[in-house]
Amino acid sequence: MEPQLKTVIDKVVAEFAISDEFLRKATDKFIASMDHGLASGPSKEHMPMIPTYVTDIPNGKEEGLFLAGDLGGTNFRVCSINLKGDHTFDLKQSKYKIPLDLMKNSTSDELFSYLAAKVEAFLEEHHKDYKDNDHLKLGFTFSFPVYQTSLNRGTLIRWTKGFDLPDLVDKDVVELFQKHIELKKIKVNVVALANDTVGTLLSRAYSNNPDVTKSNTIVGAIFGTGTNGAYFETFDRIPKLDSSKFKGKGMVINTEWGSFDNNLTILPNTKYDEIVDKETANVGYHLFEKRVSGMFLGEILRVTLIELFKEDHIFVDLYKKRGGSLPHRLSEPWQIDGEVLSYIQIDDSTDLKMSELVLQNHLRLPTTKQERLVIQALTRAISHRAAYLSAVPLAAITKRVAPQYENDDKDFEFGLDGSVIEFYPGFQQAVMEAIKIIDPLKGSPKQIHLKIAKDGSGVGAALCASTAK
Ligand code: BGC
Repeated sequence: MEPQLKTVIDKVVAEFAISDEFLRKATDKFIASMDHGLASGPSKEHMPMIPTYVTDIPNGKEEGLFLAGDLGGTNFRVCSINLKGDHTFDLKQSKYKIPLDLMKNSTSDELFSYLAAKVEAFLEEHHKDYKDNDHLKLGFTFSFPVYQTSLNRGTLIRWTKGFDLPDLVDKDVVELFQKHIELKKIKVNVVALANDTVGTLLSRAYSNNPDVTKSNTIVGAIFGTGTNGAYFETFDRIPKLDSSKFKGKGMVINTEWGSFDNNLTILPNTKYDEIVDKETANVGYHLFEKRVSGMFLGEILRVTLIELFKEDHIFVDLYKKRGGSLPHRLSEPWQIDGEVLSYIQIDDSTDLKMSELVLQNHLRLPTTKQERLVIQALTRAISHRAAYLSAVPLAAITKRVAPQYENDDKDFEFGLDGSVIEFYPGFQQAVMEAIKIIDPLKGSPKQIHLKIAKDGSGVGAALCASTAK
């Protein structure tokens, strides 16, 4: 890179750096924020820490046929799951793309009518005889912040990840789903509501046989379009819940860690992060998610490139050549998919020729070698920050639950799902590296393992449904 440009880029890259000291401090801050969230009602400052009314972690012996409906990103997934009671299951599933005009500028009735129609289509295709049988039980994975008041009741707190249908806020999402299922006379009862992270935790716990893996599953987490995690908390540490009403030792908590440190007391905050936040429908909320998850990585890169362009460091000739414009996928928000970054991340071809093709094909963006070097340096800085930040909640929860397993010598594992953790090159390694720096189990021989629990949320919803009366 030309020395002058290099000085500028080095400075920007440094803004995305995460120090070892930060990792340790942020982990302690995360634990403190968990305590606040478990003690008090909703506040912007602390994570919601939502009780899920799931009081047992599966042991692999659960049985029966259940349905799951999964809404949380660009697709609605319907599955039927036959739990066989031996850590295994059979699964049939169909995915339906959510039309963009049902994600915003529409009504929740229209969206839920679409979801009910897809449940019907799925049953017609895979379970033709369902009309002759009893009502099937459905677990609804709804992966947005919801205040749950029972296993099958919960109201939407706010939309995330680009959805924006304001009329659903504060309304019960199960009631609405059931209403549209009944309007279509489908023989299905929605008996459980689950976040995708809760589903991932339960499904990994179902598949995991601790006698074989020598590990207990302690977290279910998603690093995909959005990010979040769930874990099992003991009742004595959930002051906001009247535990006398429940059997057992504790309950699964949906942390909604996307909202960790919305007040920005510790999270890194660059001018690029501020610009991205302003472009979203939930400004000032989910600020941790906006630095970590797949929906935002491409946008942070785009905004950073545009700022460097405005300062005359890159794309100056391109702009002139085009008569005073930049390609629209660079100038308009949300046009750079995380997938594009994953190719650039690992490009080691001469003169970054592979990136040249990717940028041309995906963004219609012609680049010089200098510009590609800039783009790659920024891509790596942004994704490295995301991976290191991702380690914070995982390490914090590990530290917090360790006492629950005092008399158990098995290792710990996390059940993880989502495009970023599954596919982004080097992401898992970087997360592990940061966890090692934090060292949440200092002095203990226990190891930590990352396990991909692919499409776990559907099976998890079925497991939730299996516990419903
Ligand atoms: C939502 C969570 C969800 C996560 C991952 C976040 O935006 O608030 O409820 O678990 O995305 O899908």
